[in-house]
Parts: sequence; C-alpha cells; structure tokens
Amino acid sequence: MLQELEEYWESFQEEIQKASTLSDWNYLKGKYVGKKSRWGEFLAKLKELSPEEKRVWGKKINQLKKEMEELLEERYQELLSTEEKSEVDITLPGKKGWSGSFHPVLLTRDWILTIFQSLGFRVEEGPEIETEFYNFEALNIPPDHPARDDQDSFYLAPGYLLRTHTSPAQIRVMEKLKPPFKVVVPGKCYRRDAFDATHSPMFHQIEGLVVARDISMGDLKGTLETFVRRFFGEERKIRFRPGYFPFTEPSAEVDVSCGVCGGKGCRSCGYSGWLEILGAGLVHPQVFTHAGYDSQDVRGFAFGLGVERITMLKFGIKDIRWFWENDVQFLEQFNIF
Ligand code: FA5
Repeated sequence: MLQELEEYWESFQEEIQKASTLSDWNYLKGKYVGKKSRWGEFLAKLKELSPEEKRVWGKKINQLKKEMEELLEERYQELLSTEEKSEVDITLPGKKGWSGSFHPVLLTRDWILTIFQSLGFRVEEGPEIETEFYNFEALNIPPDHPARDDQDSFYLAPGYLLRTHTSPAQIRVMEKLKPPFKVVVPGKCYRRDAFDATHSPMFHQIEGLVVARDISMGDLKGTLETFVRRFFGEERKIRFRPGYFPFTEPSAEVDVSCGVCGGKGCRSCGYSGWLEILGAGLVHPQVFTHAGYDSQDVRGFAFGLGVERITMLKFGIKDIRWFWENDVQFLEQFNIF
C-alpha cells in the first residue's frame, strides 16, 4: 500500500509540473482527484487492515489527497496568469513598423515634374554616361570652348564622360520625337566641383524643351512664371536677367523673389531680394542643325534647373551636403505623405 501510494504521488508531482496549458491541467485534475482517480481503490484496501492501521493509513490517504488538491489549485493559478498574459489585447495601439520616406530632392523633383505635366509636358530620360558630342559639341560647345572649363567632368573611356548637365537630352529628344513637343527630362548630373554648402559633385537637374513652329521668349516667360507661382506660391515674383549659354540665344538667368524677406533684401538672398533658380533661353539654330532639324523651320525654348538648389529654397535648407549624409533624423522630416 505504501509503495503504491508513493508511486501515485510521485507520478502526480511529475505530471503536474509538466502541465503547460489549462487543458493539461483539466486532464490531470480528472486523473488524480476526479472520477478517474485511485482514492476509492486505496480506501477500499483499508478494509483489510487492523483498526489501528486503518486509522494511520486513513489519515495518510486523506492528507495526500488534500495536498494534491492544493497543488492542483496552485498550478491552476500559475497557468491561468501565463495564459492571460499571452492573449492578444486588441485594444492596445498597434506597433508602427518603420517605413522609409521620400528623399527631399526626389520629392521636389516629382513635384516639379507634376506641375510641368499639368502644363502638357511629357517626361523623357537620357543616359548618365554621355558622349562628348551630346554633352558638348551638339550643344554648340566645341573642344576649345571656354564653357567646357565651367563644367569640368569625370571622363571615362575616350570620348565618354558623366554628363555635366541634362541638356544633352535636348539633342536625344529632338532625334527621337517630331515637333511640336514639350518635354521635361529629370536626371543626375556630375561635375568636378568642390563639395561645399551650395555645390555637390553629383546633383539633379530638370531640363525643359519645347519645340514648335512659333515659339517666342513670351512662351518661355509665361511657362516659367506659371511654374514659379505654382511651386513657390502666388505672391512670388520672377525676374529674367540676360545670361549666356552657348546652346541658347538669347539666354537668361531666372531669379525668384526671396521668400524670407519678400524681396526687400536679407542674408538669405545676399541682400539682393532675388535668388537664382535656373538658366534658360531660345534654342540656338546651331543646336537644331546638330539634331538634324532645319533651323529655318522650327523654334524652341529650353531651360535647366537645379533640383537641390530649389529644394533648399523651398524648405530653407542651408547646406547641400545634408542631402547626402544619410542622417535619418534630417531625411525623415520630409515624410509628408
Ligand atoms: C546648365 O547646366 C545649363 N545646361 C542650363 C540650361 C538648360 C540653360 C537649358 C539654358 C537652357 P548651369 O551650369 O547654370 O546651367 O546649371 C544649372 C543649375 O544646376 C544651376 O542653377 C544650379 O542650380 C545647378 N547646379 C550646377 N552645378 C551644381 C552643383 N555642383 N551642385 C548643385 N547644383 C548645381
């Protein structure tokens, strides 16, 4: 009897420790203190004993059964609390996953493109590795022209270089499309410029090109004025200054009134009241000839703007290098979607 009781007790202890769910517990409760338990069997065996032994064993049996019940209750509470903890509380706020954000320069690029698309421009692309012909000669910049010094490049195999501006796309688009057309060409450009607050060796430009029979400076002014008002705000003014580019004639540098001082003059605009945003002009007849067009037949205007500089103006960013330092705290501020 003693041995049987001991074995029963030991197997109970072992099983109750292993129970890891409330359903395990329920099964053990039935097995050790419920209908399937062996207590009835043990009590029946008492009949075979002397009155004195009956008293001792009877007491022992009751005591063990009570202990089992207590241990079962203890284990029940433990299992209950772990099961409660593991339940999903759908009322808690969800964990927000980390999501990337648009880079401010690309955000600005797309914003600018959207404005031009709404004016009927289509978006085209050109290669970043260009030939000297497309990057310079076709744009009326012969090998010994001083304008080449202004755009010192990264040369690759002889005759190839990383494009210094998006203007070579003018020629590629003219070769591909038949006038009349209006295109904008976004893309990366490269120059051997010092990496300082306003210059980066890699930067983005957007080229604009409109070719048709009757195009005048008036069309260029109207288009750029509409763009500036939509992008910077209705209150901003635009100014055309005479400029020089070998591939446009006449050429102009275009300024926008300073948003910080409203045009009165402050530190941001070098006390001039104006900020330069792009270069533009009417397409030079020589460029039409290089693209295989009859320069007597067509006219056009072109412009090229620097996306980083415009982004800096729009968001009040003081240093172009911040764009490329991969500082997440800086970049995620523009997560405006
Ligand atoms: C040009 O590149 C001409 N292709 C623009 C053009 C197109 C004129 C069509 C006429 C007709 P420019 O060298 O000024 O022009 O560069 C245009 C813009 O690119 C600048 O106003 C500036 O915003 C940006 N830019 C030029 N160099 C850098 C640089 N190193 N880092 C950042 N932005 C630059």
